[in-house]
Amino acid sequence: MGIKTSSTILLLIASFINLSFHGICQDDDLASGASFIFGDSLVDAGNNNYLQTLSKADVIPNGIDFEASGGNPTGRFTNGRTIADIVGEELGQKYYATPFLAPNCTGRVILHGVSYASGAAGVMNESGRIFVNRISLPIQVDYFNITRKQIDKLIGPTKARDYLMKKSIFSLTIGSNDFLNNYLLPLVGTGARISESPDTFIDDMINNLRKQLTRLYQMDARKFIVGNVGPIGCIPYQKTINNLKDTECVDLPDKLALQYNARLKDLLTELNENLQGATFVHADVYSLVMELISNFRKYGFVTSSKACCGNGGQFAGIIPCGPASSVCSERDKYVFWDNYHPSQAANVIIANQLLNGGPRYVSPMNIRQLNDL
Ligand SMILES: *[C@@H]1O[C@H](CO)[C@@H](O)[C@H](O)[C@H]1NC(C)=O
Ligand SMILES: *[C@@H]1O[C@H](CO)[C@@H](O)[C@H](O)[C@H]1NC(C)=O
Ligand SMILES: *[C@@H]1O[C@H](CO)[C@@H](O)[C@H](O)[C@H]1NC(C)=O
Repeated sequence: MGIKTSSTILLLIASFINLSFHGICQDDDLASGASFIFGDSLVDAGNNNYLQTLSKADVIPNGIDFEASGGNPTGRFTNGRTIADIVGEELGQKYYATPFLAPNCTGRVILHGVSYASGAAGVMNESGRIFVNRISLPIQVDYFNITRKQIDKLIGPTKARDYLMKKSIFSLTIGSNDFLNNYLLPLVGTGARISESPDTFIDDMINNLRKQLTRLYQMDARKFIVGNVGPIGCIPYQKTINNLKDTECVDLPDKLALQYNARLKDLLTELNENLQGATFVHADVYSLVMELISNFRKYGFVTSSKACCGNGGQFAGIIPCGPASSVCSERDKYVFWDNYHPSQAANVIIANQLLNGGPRYVSPMNIRQLNDL
């Protein structure tokens, strides 16, 4: 009897040590929380490096100010960190969210966040088709479904659910390509404008977005931050091809963005009411970027119309940034890095407002408050 009891106790002790060892190990990986990032080139962290696509930023001088890569290109469409990188860093997350398609996006790395974002992607499957391959939002959510199952395997279903609901932030930065690289395309047969009114097209976008956000909710996402579409009529590309003056923007793209943005705000209100226990934070990227463009001097920039890296026209807005581009000497004095994308300096200001700002730009709470819920 004595022997039996002591071996039972030994077994108990052994499994207790085993359990607590795993417990400590897991808590260590789970302590800092994670970002799961959905979106387009504004937040792509390198997924398009692994696709056959015309939308790539894997050449110099992209990434020149990205410290983690020693200034080498990573696939980010800017000179440094994206808005999503900065937010993750400020929230104390251990790594930048790893691109889903990267070979090292395996094992416990995924517990620190994954980026599904892809240059040229839109809410709609068809958007960005002129770039050939990209991961559209519905596919990004399919990919999260794969990650979701991997997290269950890594830490068990109970912990996984808790981790996703309480310690994970789900961000969406998408919609520009549905206009710039779909609805507004002039070529017959490529844009949806031929067959659809703006109202119908925006209806389709909102319905699809509702569907994708609901799918994420079904997979235990609870803390959402959703950005609206920026002033896409004011980017160097649009200003150059439309031959505008320094302070002018193209009307139609901005009008469509504002029309979509109003519907997006209503959608998030609706989802806050209908999806129990979820919080959808609305990020007014449009107003924030418009403020930077209009009052650029106040924020230490010297121009908000000319791209730092690129060529063509008065705003260097035709040819994308690459090894042969002319590059400005003071990269943190330009709102725009290239013909489409903000510079790291602009991203820092935008991220800071979303993290810590008030209801003018981020509501019903900021990202730090969302994180602390
Ligand atoms: C995964 O690989 C990417 C691209 O090479 C790299 O930037 C990143 O730091 C790696 N992430 C981790 C967690 O090792
Ligand atoms: C998008 O494409 C995928 C795969 O091609 C398909 O399964 C899905 O139903 C499409 N979604 C929409 C909203 O069109
Ligand atoms: C996730 O994938 C499974 C199949 O593996 C499917 O049954 C389920 O509906 C998917 N979930 C969502 C929300 O798409």
